[in-house]
Amino acid sequence: MKKLIAANWKMYKIPAQALETAKELIARLNTEPMENPKDKEIVVFAPSIALPSVLVAKATILPEFTFSYGAQNFYPALEGAYTGETSLDMVKSVGAEWALVGHSERRAIFGEKNDFLATKVEFALNNAVRVIYCIGETLEEREEGKLKEVLASQLKEGLALLPQDYKVEDLAIAYEPVWAIGTGKVASEDDILEAHALVRELLVEILANKATETRILYGGSVKPENAKSIMAIKNVDGVLVGGASLKADSFSEIARA
Ligand code: PGA
Repeated sequence: MKKLIAANWKMYKIPAQALETAKELIARLNTEPMENPKDKEIVVFAPSIALPSVLVAKATILPEFTFSYGAQNFYPALEGAYTGETSLDMVKSVGAEWALVGHSERRAIFGEKNDFLATKVEFALNNAVRVIYCIGETLEEREEGKLKEVLASQLKEGLALLPQDYKVEDLAIAYEPVWAIGTGKVASEDDILEAHALVRELLVEILANKATETRILYGGSVKPENAKSIMAIKNVDGVLVGGASLKADSFSEIARA
């Protein structure tokens, strides 16, 4: 399975800026040497309104790269009276292939709970959109010794409605400790090793024979300086990058790590 290197631009970049960054990123990927481009899959989660910019920029990527992009959010209905929401058909019409579900900012700021997230995961996979499902504990939960409990409920409840026949490469999990997101405080290698082993163990219970092939990404203050060592940790099958993905040079360096 290819390593998944994902950028989360969050609520940054107007379409013109997204176009500039995506063009520069693709120019760098095309020209800067990368050892093993065929072993990697690069995904950019842009603001929905900037997805057409990524579509335009993608036209120039060389064929050895697997490059796609996705929506940071959507509402799990085909269409309807959902003021302010974006449908999967809308983002698919501008080339989005992926969606993020369960990011800690959606959980904490917008109150999205595991049962609603389960309907989003199900809806995306049933509508041919690939999913990165994010999980992770807060500092308080970690300090109270609740790591396993929190990850288990996020995984069991959020993945409760998986379609029987979804393809294993269409669902990835991102373990993102909330205390490491946007804080510059990266989890230690031991913390990542432990949490990813735990996630793999829980996936075996939930997904049975699909568990070993399911990619588990790490997210939380990933930077060019730490990406290579994080990606070398057992059970780390990629990274989800926020702050350091906003600039093409730092994200291309992470992709090359
Ligand atoms: P960060 O964000 O890399 O800025 O910590 C990660 C994320 O929110 O996915």
